[in-house]
Amino acid sequence: MTTIESLSDATPVVRAVDIHELPIPPYRSSILPQIDYDTHPAYGAMLPRPTLGERVEALSRFLRTFAFVAIRRVVDYENMPLLSKEAGFTGLNASTAIRYITMFTRIRVGRMIGSLIGTRRPATPTNPALLNQIKSDGIVCLTLTPDEIGRINAATAQGFARLDERRANIPLEKRKFDDNVYWCTRSLDPQAFTTVENIFNRYGVIEAASAYLGRPVGVKHVNAQINDQEYAFWKRQFPDTEIADPWGSYLHIDATYGMLKCAIYTHDIGPDGGPFCYVRGSQRAKVGWFEGMVRRTNDFAGFASRKVDIRKKFMALPAFLRKKAEFGADIRDDSPEADRLREGHFSATSNFGNCILFDGNGIHRGGMVNKGERRCLFILLAEI
Ligand SMILES: [Fe+2]
Repeated sequence: MTTIESLSDATPVVRAVDIHELPIPPYRSSILPQIDYDTHPAYGAMLPRPTLGERVEALSRFLRTFAFVAIRRVVDYENMPLLSKEAGFTGLNASTAIRYITMFTRIRVGRMIGSLIGTRRPATPTNPALLNQIKSDGIVCLTLTPDEIGRINAATAQGFARLDERRANIPLEKRKFDDNVYWCTRSLDPQAFTTVENIFNRYGVIEAASAYLGRPVGVKHVNAQINDQEYAFWKRQFPDTEIADPWGSYLHIDATYGMLKCAIYTHDIGPDGGPFCYVRGSQRAKVGWFEGMVRRTNDFAGFASRKVDIRKKFMALPAFLRKKAEFGADIRDDSPEADRLREGHFSATSNFGNCILFDGNGIHRGGMVNKGERRCLFILLAEI
């Protein structure tokens, strides 16, 4: 355990913080797991060879989605305000499209000028150990005080209440991932943002994130999320087969770029409570520009699902495009890839902390609740 001392009382900027060292070795591979889909029992080994028409259709969908992902990348989508997540957003129409374009242009020009005159730069880390740990492991587990968790609970109670109400009105079988998430907004839930920002400032979280990402950073989103044992999205991965659910189910890298995330547990989370899990050091695995785009494209295109008709579409792609961001369930338990992942896999249960800062480019998963309910906040740190 590494302890960072507070600065003197005259400059009480960063609070003493315990960073828990992880009880497992880092990921040993320098690349993400490679999966041979041609011989996989749920893919090439059982599915018929795709027809020419199926290949053309799959490739065309892939290319259209690739263009969409490329545009998101070019406009630096993750580091732009999202009108769609603001209170009162009425959908994408001519008026919102003009607002988006004007806003993106204004922000990009402002950032370019800021870079040129030197006002746009990353923060100086006030807590170097935090920065070093996220650089080496891709994840840092901090422990907020009961008082801080209490403040966060109070500031987000209204958001969770709205989420409870929404979930109660959606039958379980119709519930989707987004139905379990409430996006706080600065207009409706200002307290959620200020409370999180104040606490992050105490520990130097925002400065560390900024130095890590190499750009100015702030709290972009505060999301309340509820998962329960009924929502077993990681089970029955290959529903048309007898294949048992693989150990690696739901392991993934995020489809987003250029941001850090932080999970804050609002209550104790044990091994069955859906703790956040991370493969230590896997954010350092080399993923080239094109490979990263391909993986994200397949997930955005809906090719990462494992229903039989989707697996057929995925197999209709050329072999070099068969890579997913959400690849975990495709890793066979008896493979060397699974061994390497298990070795570096770490479950961040509450005894390691209640504030888990991580780089989503590393391999991770969470919310796989076996018992009870998990109430968690996800904070997105990006340029705002
Ligand atoms: Fe993720």
